[in-house]
Amino acid sequence: MRQSSLVVVANRLPLDDNAARDGACEWRRSPGGLASALRSILEQTPATWVGWGGGIGPARQLPDVGPLRLRPVALTADELQGYYEGFANSTLWPLYHDAVEPPVFDRGWWETYRAVNRRFAEAAAESAEPGAAVWVQDYHLQLVPQLLRELRPDLLIGFFLHVPFPPPELFMQLPRRTELLRGMLGADLVGFQRPQAAHNVAQLAAKLLGTQGADDAILLDGRVVRTGAFPVSIDVPEMTALAAQPSVRSHAHQLRQDLGPHKRVVLSVDRLDYTKGIEHRLTAYSELLRDGRIKVRDVVMVQVAVPSRERVENYRGLRDRIEREVGRINGEYGRVGEPAIHYLNQPFDRADLAALYQTADVMVVTPLRDGMNLVAKEYVAARAEDTGALVLSEFAGAAAELEDAFQVNPHDVDGLKETLLRALDADPADLARRMHAMREHITEHDIHAWAGDYLTSLDHSGGLARVLPRPKEALARPS
Ligand code: ADP
Ligand code: F6P
Repeated sequence: MRQSSLVVVANRLPLDDNAARDGACEWRRSPGGLASALRSILEQTPATWVGWGGGIGPARQLPDVGPLRLRPVALTADELQGYYEGFANSTLWPLYHDAVEPPVFDRGWWETYRAVNRRFAEAAAESAEPGAAVWVQDYHLQLVPQLLRELRPDLLIGFFLHVPFPPPELFMQLPRRTELLRGMLGADLVGFQRPQAAHNVAQLAAKLLGTQGADDAILLDGRVVRTGAFPVSIDVPEMTALAAQPSVRSHAHQLRQDLGPHKRVVLSVDRLDYTKGIEHRLTAYSELLRDGRIKVRDVVMVQVAVPSRERVENYRGLRDRIEREVGRINGEYGRVGEPAIHYLNQPFDRADLAALYQTADVMVVTPLRDGMNLVAKEYVAARAEDTGALVLSEFAGAAAELEDAFQVNPHDVDGLKETLLRALDADPADLARRMHAMREHITEHDIHAWAGDYLTSLDHSGGLARVLPRPKEALARPS
């Protein structure tokens, strides 16, 4: 078994095994914030990425991606159901997102979650050199830090939570709350998107584990667990360069012609997830059409909703409701050859997303709760000419950084309508000022800065951060 000095452990590998046609193996880029963020920094890094390839049954051996080794973890159908669809995405996901859908507490899922976390911990332990750093990602693997510490006390262990960490009163609902908290605190450094999360964890640790400490350090079993906020970001040079490519520009021009050269384009891009606020957004848009405050001849909406977690009941129901609503809105307000909303339930490659971002006059990102939301940052990175308006939910982690967006409470449909109109009618000079300020912020706080800050905080020496590619090298690689 080849070993690395840096091992990243995430539920998904950066490639999705989309296999099965005639036994052929076809890999595609996994959608989702975590894979997008980590792939940018790791595909040029000598490291090992431990993760699930997206299929069921025995794991295939995978070729290296440049200097990055991929170490697949296999899941059976039952494990997929109990660990990924069950405990991770039907218990933790809704609970960590303000319980916008009720979390399901199924006692059968816990054992599977724990067994699969153990398998990830074992794969990480096998892949790590003596004294290596292992960086565990997200709520799927919350037990891994402690399991790994038991297997390999020599390792430096980091954990980063990409989703929000809930307020204590919600976390306290979890039947296995103490084990989950202890599992995560097996790390040397626990990173979150927002400082509030670290505060919540310190409070819970004091209550459930009797620890002492503050928002930046917790004393547990004679060990100091450091905590802190490290807001995740995107590869800004990559998206900016992509959006400037002549082929992307001409695609954006063609999209604009197809959508209506004189129309304002309102765009949303989400995984099809109930946390993303798609239904609230459609209600607001439909009421603006109903009240005649926007007209189909002047404005067109494009809603990209990439399929996600389709075997989970809540997600199937959501898709049905959204598709019915889009059909209703188009039926009531569309004209022949002129729909009110273009609805695209499909994955896009990066260049096509960049072309869509280029086309959008108003980008609407209105999750009910989101750890960060990288789509908002991608839009800003794609608008190098300082045009376009970003409407952004106050409940996305990105709102703390993108203060110049048109911020909105997505639960307040009337407020959402007024904010959409404000963004559509904004003065170009005001838009330019806002966009410029937001781009300056993300340029400084991009994915390279995020990984560098986290890893430097983990090893104190900067040694780990030096293994990562510098932004210039990232810019030079083919897209
Ligand atoms: P989440 O992690 O909840 O999915 P984010 O907004 O943080 O939300 O990240 C979503 C990522 O998935 C972004 O990098 C975005 O570009 C990508 N993405 C969104 N929609 C699509 C799509 N239709 N096809 C491919 N990638 C997509
Ligand atoms: O950001 C939260 C997250 O669960 C990530 O871990 C993942 O990249 C993304 O959402 C997509 O979800 P899934 O891996 O379930 O398709």
